[in-house]
Amino acid sequence: MTDLTDPAIVGQRTPRVDGEDKLTGHADYTGELHVDGMLYGYPVPATIAHGSLESLELDAARHMPGVVDILHHGHFPALHRSPNSLKHGDRVSEERLPFEDERIHYHGQYVALVVAETFEQARAAAYRVTARYRHDDDAMPSLLLSEAEGILLDDAGYSRGDAAAAFQIAPVTVDETYRIEAESHLPMEMHATLAEWRDGGQRLVVHEATQGVIYQRNALARVFAMPQESIEVISHYIGSGFGNKLFMWPHAVATVAAARMLGRPVKVVVPRQQDMMNGGNRPASRQRIRLGAERDGRLTSIMHDSTTETARVDRYVDHCGNATPSAYACDNVTTTQRIVAVNHGTPCMMRAPGETSGLYALESAIDELAIALAMDPVELRLFNYAASDPKSGLPWSSKQLDKCLTRAAKRFGWKSRDPAIGSMRDNDEIIGYGMASATWSAGRQPCEARVELRADGSLFVACGTQDIGTGTYTVVAQAAAELSGLPVEKVEVKLGEASLPAGPLSGGSMTTATTLPAVAAAVRDALHALKEVATRPGSTFDGVAPQSIRVAEGALVTDDRRASYAEILGRQRLSSVNGSGSAKPGNERKQYGFRSFGAHFVEVRWDPGISRLRVARVVSSIDVGRAINPATARNQVEGAIVMGIGMALLERLDYDPRDARLVNANVSDYRVPVHADMPEIDVELLDYPDFRCNEFGARGIGEIGLTGVAAAIANAVHHATGKRIRHLPINLEKLM
Ligand code: MOS
Repeated sequence: MTDLTDPAIVGQRTPRVDGEDKLTGHADYTGELHVDGMLYGYPVPATIAHGSLESLELDAARHMPGVVDILHHGHFPALHRSPNSLKHGDRVSEERLPFEDERIHYHGQYVALVVAETFEQARAAAYRVTARYRHDDDAMPSLLLSEAEGILLDDAGYSRGDAAAAFQIAPVTVDETYRIEAESHLPMEMHATLAEWRDGGQRLVVHEATQGVIYQRNALARVFAMPQESIEVISHYIGSGFGNKLFMWPHAVATVAAARMLGRPVKVVVPRQQDMMNGGNRPASRQRIRLGAERDGRLTSIMHDSTTETARVDRYVDHCGNATPSAYACDNVTTTQRIVAVNHGTPCMMRAPGETSGLYALESAIDELAIALAMDPVELRLFNYAASDPKSGLPWSSKQLDKCLTRAAKRFGWKSRDPAIGSMRDNDEIIGYGMASATWSAGRQPCEARVELRADGSLFVACGTQDIGTGTYTVVAQAAAELSGLPVEKVEVKLGEASLPAGPLSGGSMTTATTLPAVAAAVRDALHALKEVATRPGSTFDGVAPQSIRVAEGALVTDDRRASYAEILGRQRLSSVNGSGSAKPGNERKQYGFRSFGAHFVEVRWDPGISRLRVARVVSSIDVGRAINPATARNQVEGAIVMGIGMALLERLDYDPRDARLVNANVSDYRVPVHADMPEIDVELLDYPDFRCNEFGARGIGEIGLTGVAAAIANAVHHATGKRIRHLPINLEKLM
């Protein structure tokens, strides 16, 4: 059997197997689907953030051409809330059902859904719906505008040693508070649902842009009180998600209900402006970091106190202190977590939730400590290196952060840095160098997969996970090709349907580590079945012991015989042999700490004459075990670095301090980096396969690239300008 310590296809830069479908427009993105008889829904968003709906004037809209129906609080079926449990696979992003009552909790909350024959008709009529509201005057506009203290979560803190006492006596300390404004996920594709009831309403087929077809299927089953088996959820392609498509949102419930009420398929694509109001956000955070150290740089105390926003309707916690207990070898560490309810759309996980916010604060504070100690920040990090996991006491499965730090420093040219503020110049520009560490959890979930080895010489692989643009189709094909000895072109991968064998959410950077071992088990199972067929009377290997048969390039071989899979199946008049497999994390999770690591080095250039700040260069080394496909893996890190530049310099959701309305719900006023903002990005993927995580040696790569980027940029900005900006984004007015 194939040796995964020295693979042939795994680890190669295989071009994306879905690339052609995407480039030629054959990829079936939900928002672009069309089925016969389909109606279009267009939601009407609340124009206030806090209060209640007094009346809806619908007559004008009702008489518009093509309008079929308008759903709202007074005209909507009684449904059920989902229990909203991660463990039971029915988690939703927002528990409240659409139109459930007349309370308005945030700007952009749906107050009606207009359904019409065409998209244009639905939109035109939606604009004619007039809502009247009663305002409540105690709207909470944002955590950072209010400076509210929040509710302390008893179950979300961590403590070892006596951090407060150690801080008191530490000769060198840092005590600073860092703020991050709320951000939008802003995926290319907005939330979208196409719902179709079949068999006289007995069966429901939903196309959804989701990172979790099975979760959405389960949640719909709860909401519509149906057996899970009667619902199919399909998500073959997603224009990314970054976490806001992990769990079901109210637009999907409204769409499914509309299709049932009207007896016709209905599609809703949430308009961009509404998507930014009601489709998820990374909540704002306020984090106080206290560090204590000896004069030689040894950390003696870390205290990380976080407050983040949640919604009025739901409880979401962005655990900023997630990584802190494991980050450094330090005997005394505490983290606390508070939440404040604000009148925003419900926040949700956004790419590396917790760590992304948390490492901005922690890794900025470590930089401030390095300056206070007059110590190089790379040396300070290596000096306090956590060689085992200080939180669990367990050894790491594999940790190459030291190599990330030293290798990236070398490629970047960190040695040439003059630590004096503003000392490095290039004509009108002041150059700043900054760096930070990256880390993200390396989880794994149970998974099942099914394969068919077919008489036409192809291999079909099915798993109920999704490819959210990260390359899952491709790495699954590579794994199946590796194990079967068939070329990648002969592998057909089916993902993104809830009725396929149970696969994981595309979240938490767990998909590869979770899915590939199950696929491998299924391929082995099929090969086992094939050997049985091959040794039947009259077959090529009649009389041969199955264990002496080897697998080689799409054929079974012994020392003197060889037959391709197709020949073996053909001879027995079989169309295929099937295999099924499952895999789950085991005891190793009790023996080792699992995390991924990295280091980012950043050069910024600040031109004070014209107040121009740009990121000129990013050099990163990332340790995620083995990259199954270094091309798609590198794309993930590069994309994450772009997102980190946005977080550090540009992105913020602006809420009106008077009434909590979102004032920049569009992509011209909400600024993201564009091509002209792009630096040189140089990503190195270290190649230390982590066979304790799974037989492929792969951890996961979707999220880690974002962690630490904003801190590295803020640290570089300080080096260039002397200004320590502890409030993201670092927009220019903060530097002037
Ligand atoms: Mo990621 S926030 O788990 O999509």
